Amino acid sequence: MKGKRILLGISGGIAAYKCCALVRLMVKAGAHVQVVLTPDAAEFVSPLTLSVLSKNRVLSAFSTQDGQWNNHVDLALQSDLLIIAPATANTLGKMANGLCDNLLLATYLSAKCSVMFAPAMDLDMHEHPSVKQNIKQLISYGNHLIPAESGELASGLVGAGRMAEPETIMQHIVNYFDGDKKLKGKQVLVTAGPTYEAIDPVRFIGNHSTGKMGLAIATAFAAQGAEVILICGPGVQQLSNNSNINRIDVIAASEMHQVCVHHFKKADITIMAAAVADYKPAQAATQKIKKKGENLIIDLLKNPDILQDLGTKKTAKQLLIGFALETQNELEHAKDKLKRKNLDAIILNSLNDKGAGFGGDTNKVTFIFKSKKNKALPLMSKQMVAETLVVEVVKLME
Ligand code: C5P
Repeated sequence: MKGKRILLGISGGIAAYKCCALVRLMVKAGAHVQVVLTPDAAEFVSPLTLSVLSKNRVLSAFSTQDGQWNNHVDLALQSDLLIIAPATANTLGKMANGLCDNLLLATYLSAKCSVMFAPAMDLDMHEHPSVKQNIKQLISYGNHLIPAESGELASGLVGAGRMAEPETIMQHIVNYFDGDKKLKGKQVLVTAGPTYEAIDPVRFIGNHSTGKMGLAIATAFAAQGAEVILICGPGVQQLSNNSNINRIDVIAASEMHQVCVHHFKKADITIMAAAVADYKPAQAATQKIKKKGENLIIDLLKNPDILQDLGTKKTAKQLLIGFALETQNELEHAKDKLKRKNLDAIILNSLNDKGAGFGGDTNKVTFIFKSKKNKALPLMSKQMVAETLVVEVVKLME
């Protein structure tokens, strides 16, 4: 982060006071920080405090009191990163829709650098469909969401809407700069979601995977310049267009296997986050199976273990990382898989941990490496897990 030029845009919410700590952390890490306030933000945090902490003057209006223009175009062009924190519902809405009635918004619209935004607002506002839509819209522009956290809000309500803590925002920034360009030109293969194994034309054997973890991983690698082949099982949510991600949809494990083997040869890094069905019906019926007796016995055949197969094909230059979702003796099972499948690392999550596993937006994982100490992470957003994984992968490659 040393020497990086960071623009911090603060909009008018109570969480603005936390930006004093954020500015300190950034300055301590060696960044040049330029603060831009919306007119309302100064009600919540003093420009003088921010100026002392950032060792820089604080900007808020299009011109200074002695009539000099604060050039938002230069501000935006000279920065390596723009962070908008807190991003209030009002500022989010304006950013999403191209409105531009203050210096911060003009700077945002002129920015060529990456943009991060950390929403902060009351529970019901955060839940409102229009706010959700605006956040989605900003993500589709390539802006990087630092999700709001759950907890007690200024209103006294408890729920999602609290701005991420300064340390968490800092981690996003560090992750962003640490991976800076190091993955440019790297080929990354990611699998996500479940597989469906046909019983007949109507039914299948599947599982609860939604592919959120795999999508977050693909997005995090793509954000660092990697060219990602993302192989998705059925039902995985569509991502907004990202020129660094090439998505291939498959249904069954055998199909996923074929596509993975094809793309694996060129992959520098492979992360298998899909929940592949271990067994499939030996014979999928061609017609819908009719209800008859009290029991129905379906003969199951073992599916290929895609990860294990790639492990046998892996060269010394390739990194291969798997997931282990366990319900008991977690560490032991994960370490066994790491060895058996010839992996460089395995990411363990346990269904016994609240907030971990299928469907949700959070995960609690431990990275288990072949050749260095384990790294246990606290409960965090899947996006954050993915970004931390990118940092670890970059270290492994070094
Ligand atoms: O052995 P287990 O299924 O728990 O291993 C999980 C890891 O193996 C995940 O990374 C998953 O994507 C991968 N896997 C696979 N093919 C299978 C089963 C699991 O690639 N048939």
